[in-house]
Amino acid sequence: MSNRPQHELETIRAAGLWRELHRIEGAVDTWVTVDGRRALLLCSNNYLGLAHHPALAEAAARAARDYGVGAGASRLISGSLALHVALEERLATLEGTEAALLFPSGYHANIGAIATLVGRGDAIFSDALNHASIIDGCRLSGAAVHVYPHRDTTALAEALATSSARRRLIVTDSVFSMDGDQAPLREICALADTHGAMVMVDEAHATGVFGANGGGLVEALGLHGRVTVQMGTLGKALGCAGAFVAAERAIIDLLVNRARSFIYTTALAPPIVGAVAAALDIVAREPERRAGLLRRSAALRTRLGALGLQVPPGEGPILPVIVGESDDAMHASRTLLERGVFVQAIRPPTVPPGTARLRVTLMATHDDADLAHAATAFAAI
Ligand SMILES: Cc1ncc(COP(=O)(O)O)c(C=O)c1O
Repeated sequence: MSNRPQHELETIRAAGLWRELHRIEGAVDTWVTVDGRRALLLCSNNYLGLAHHPALAEAAARAARDYGVGAGASRLISGSLALHVALEERLATLEGTEAALLFPSGYHANIGAIATLVGRGDAIFSDALNHASIIDGCRLSGAAVHVYPHRDTTALAEALATSSARRRLIVTDSVFSMDGDQAPLREICALADTHGAMVMVDEAHATGVFGANGGGLVEALGLHGRVTVQMGTLGKALGCAGAFVAAERAIIDLLVNRARSFIYTTALAPPIVGAVAAALDIVAREPERRAGLLRRSAALRTRLGALGLQVPPGEGPILPVIVGESDDAMHASRTLLERGVFVQAIRPPTVPPGTARLRVTLMATHDDADLAHAATAFAAI
């Protein structure tokens, strides 16, 4: 037993899958000091550059003064703060649903929602590239899980047609976290109508980025009312932490009663809730932030493609540069850091074997000089 961690670590190292943490000094800004080296940050999900925005910091400080730093307990134990309730009402309005419920993280939201919506005797239809938290939620639910090939609605239709499960749930990322491409949500909603299935959409990488009001891809595609459950995160484009589930009132009430990852955990801390409200103000007031982000992302995609790098077509701030083998991706990541660009190599099991990649992510606060710096560094790999 005592040697087990060591053996496992050796196996991980031998497979080229060793992971380690880098030390960042200061805030998650467009430029950071990583392991003592100044570098352009191209690997955060802080898409709108809000994580260290003064308005969010001020709102967090105000909420800490007025409500305290911690929520004190789970909400079923010591009650919901007025701040929680106000934010949930605002998120429900943004997503065009009757109600919304906050969770401490997207991971909590996904495992809680999926395991509440379906259970033993039910069936889940899950895209092959869905996020790990969805995969874990599916396992936890006890439902039969049918994994359909990525974005393949023909395969999804076949699986739905042959399922005799009592309740069926189609679950998908709207924007895929490691590929940046988008789920065929219109087709998925049509299939759900045909087969009487529920649809759950994880908008982790779309909240604040897509949609006229920043509500996500469901909003952008005009699918409000067609999706059973929308999950969004508060720790990516909104720059804070936590997540929410938006749905009809009965589903939200069911989550309050059944979702163990809501019931058995301390409520989101007041400073975070205050800061999220300030982030939503900026999302509403400054649509040019997301427009600029999408424009710059398209520009960098073109520049990287012109260098001969393999960047699949797509829209939005996640640009995967496919490398192939894990060692090569790690080598490319190190080379980039030496040239002042911080980009992580993403390897199996996070992505399928043979598709190790550099996951480049942009922020609204990157400027043209930053893009030029990135292109120069990428030319070296
Ligand atoms: C698609 C997707 N869903 C859920 C999550 C989990 O969100 P959180 O980081 O808030 O736990 C992530 C982020 O890692 C994600 O990429």
